[in-house]
Amino acid sequence: MPRVLTGITPSGTLHIGNYFGAMRPAIELQAGGNAYYFIADYHSMTSLTDAQERRDYTRGIALDWLACGLDPKQAVFWRQSDVPEVCELTWLLGTLTPMGLLERAHSYKDKTAKGIAPNFGLFAYPVLMAADILLYDTNLVPVGKDQKQHLEMTRDIAIKFNLTYGETLVVPEPEIRDEVAVVPGLDGQKMSKSYGNTIEIFGDEKALRKKIMGIVMDSRTPAEPKPDAEKNLAIQLMRLVAPKDVALDFENRLRAGGLGYGDLKKALFEHYWNFFAPYRARRAGLAADSGYVEEVLRDGALRARAVASKVMERARKNCGLR
Ligand code: ADP
Ligand code: TRP
Repeated sequence: MPRVLTGITPSGTLHIGNYFGAMRPAIELQAGGNAYYFIADYHSMTSLTDAQERRDYTRGIALDWLACGLDPKQAVFWRQSDVPEVCELTWLLGTLTPMGLLERAHSYKDKTAKGIAPNFGLFAYPVLMAADILLYDTNLVPVGKDQKQHLEMTRDIAIKFNLTYGETLVVPEPEIRDEVAVVPGLDGQKMSKSYGNTIEIFGDEKALRKKIMGIVMDSRTPAEPKPDAEKNLAIQLMRLVAPKDVALDFENRLRAGGLGYGDLKKALFEHYWNFFAPYRARRAGLAADSGYVEEVLRDGALRARAVASKVMERARKNCGLR
């Protein structure tokens, strides 16, 4: 069974793009018994500087994953900073990472273009991400399309390390699911917390209903046939949260004419709300137990560290630090 690993940054509330693009595929893979999932709290430092907020997001995201079906008995689930060897490996990898490679990183270019003042952490982010992956002899990394370049960089860095110091690191493969590769947000762009266009997995019913009912559509009348129905944003989202035949039925009705956008959005909200209802109930139960999350993460860190220390030992030895 290949080892599967992925990380999620605690820098905001999780949305359904995170769920369909990252969490659900990861949770499906845990049954193989070789899944490693972590909360990337070091990564959150490039965008968040409020200490309490970081703690709250970290706990919240752990609850989200556990509520959505992550089973800490099947998967290793930990907090990145509980295994600080990842910083040591970041340094080793950084010394082999060409500046040009980092300068070409989309995430860095996008963020600086938006006016975010660049710092070393933001620039070095792909190296920390490479260390996250390589520290655990990872074979497969399930991620959304936006992370593709980071995975390519990880592979380049691993190959360079192995060429320089001899076979040390496992070269991982990305796993990008095409059908949900990019979940669109309320404005049709990629759903992302940085664009303020998200539908949260967990949140207030009234506020979420308002968000979905507020999706802007074109001015065609309900009666008009819509030959481009498959491109409609509500239809695209419906395909994720409603059974296949139900989503197809809505698409056909929209195409034929006679289905109003208001009714379509109302139905979308109901399907979305019901889809996540069991997770919502489970989350409330887990949140009531104040020590549970900490216990799960601490146990996960012990198991993660057992793997990391072996890889680190190999890396130190091969590059002459030991
Ligand atoms: P955000 O864009 O909201 O900041 P993150 O960058 O924290 O989200 O992404 C966490 C995980 O969720 C990554 O694996 C990412 O690829 C996936 N993901 C985020 N947004 C989407 C989306 N709209 N569609 C598919 N996957 C997504
Ligand atoms: N950079 C990823 C994101 O923004 C999160 C992440 C950090 C990650 N380290 C990772 C994902 C290692 C996969 C593997 O979504």
